[in-house]
Amino acid sequence: MRYCGDVMPARPADTLRRNSISGEMVKTSRIFSVLQSEFLGTSPNQVSKPRDKMKPRLLELLVCPIEKTRLELIEWESSPVTLSRKDIGRIERLGLNPVVFSKEITSGLLVNRTRKIFYPIHNGVPRMLVFPTGVARHFLQTHAKRIRQELPGYTLPEDMPMPGEEAVLRSFSNEWVNYDWDERTYWNLSSDVMYKTMRFLLDLAHRPVRDKLVLEVGIGIGGIANYMALKEECELVGMDLSYAVDPAYKYFGRNPFLHIIQGSAFKPSFRGDIFDLVYSHGVLHHTFSTKSAFDNICKLPRHGGRLYVWVYSHYDEERTLERRILMKMERIIRPVVWRLPNPLQTIALLPIIPLYLIHQNLLDDRGQPGMVKYKVREALHAAR
Ligand SMILES: C[S@@+](CC[C@H](N)C(=O)[O-])C[C@H]1O[C@@H](n2cnc3c(N)ncnc32)[C@H](O)[C@@H]1O
Repeated sequence: MRYCGDVMPARPADTLRRNSISGEMVKTSRIFSVLQSEFLGTSPNQVSKPRDKMKPRLLELLVCPIEKTRLELIEWESSPVTLSRKDIGRIERLGLNPVVFSKEITSGLLVNRTRKIFYPIHNGVPRMLVFPTGVARHFLQTHAKRIRQELPGYTLPEDMPMPGEEAVLRSFSNEWVNYDWDERTYWNLSSDVMYKTMRFLLDLAHRPVRDKLVLEVGIGIGGIANYMALKEECELVGMDLSYAVDPAYKYFGRNPFLHIIQGSAFKPSFRGDIFDLVYSHGVLHHTFSTKSAFDNICKLPRHGGRLYVWVYSHYDEERTLERRILMKMERIIRPVVWRLPNPLQTIALLPIIPLYLIHQNLLDDRGQPGMVKYKVREALHAAR
């Protein structure tokens, strides 16, 4: 989790809008408390604040996913982020202070004082799920004494997950956690072509997102999100339900303009009016209700902002005989396989790996530019 500094007087109009409700941070021993101030309808000069105060960037965007109220940050560990001259230029264009942009909070808590709950920041990633997960419980155990001292009587949030949500979390964590990012292969394309495809789908040539605030729902390994933040020069928040956020942070966490959080489309932890673009690619159909997931994320773009959602199509699944066979097999195998421990999953999937290899390498690869050939590793990932 990264934070950045004061809103400066001469910031661009869209940044002003983005910061229309904002906060500032005051250090109290090791605890930062958030003083909320309303800027709606004020002039840029009125929103400038003294340079010696820091304002957490991600905190400005995050709210408690249950109550949609502001959170207080307790910072435990942080590390410096090296900013290039270009990064500093970009931050200045956003009207933000580069000095405090260069700090990464790796461990700490995000606290809702009213409800007496906290969300862990673990391995640099805020864990914003409203139900306890393995990682959150482990965090609680590891830091039990410190939490008791600093926040007596506080607990993890204990709401119910959405139907099937824990299973989806588990199955996608299996898919991504041991995935080694490789530029040359992103699904069935090279990552470069994958990115260009997304660029086309999001119509970025005509509707650029330079210096805008973008949210990706369901980032997976984070390859698209990282490309977007780098090449389109936007500030991007990537959210995912699963522990895919950990490899995403490992591979792309150094990008100062990419914030990664663990959270669910059903309980997004953002104010509802801040994103210029919200996109979600290949995600919502993995939930118990695509409609309900859509209903939740469609509130996230700001007024006049854009929403892009892509889900699997029945038509595409029925397109050819091979696809029909593959999809039928998937429907039979998947519900059984995801219940197995990881090594057994791999063994169970081995018999269908040749089908994926044949499908991708012989049938689907018809000389299209950017199509990659699967090796066993990629075929196994696709099968998962
Ligand atoms: C097929 S992957 C797609 C990843 C990425 N969008 C891409 O195109 O490479 C689907 C991702 O959606 C995530 N996901 C599933 N349900 C979710 C939810 N309710 N909220 C957020 N992410 C979710 C999964 O954890 C998984 O990483």
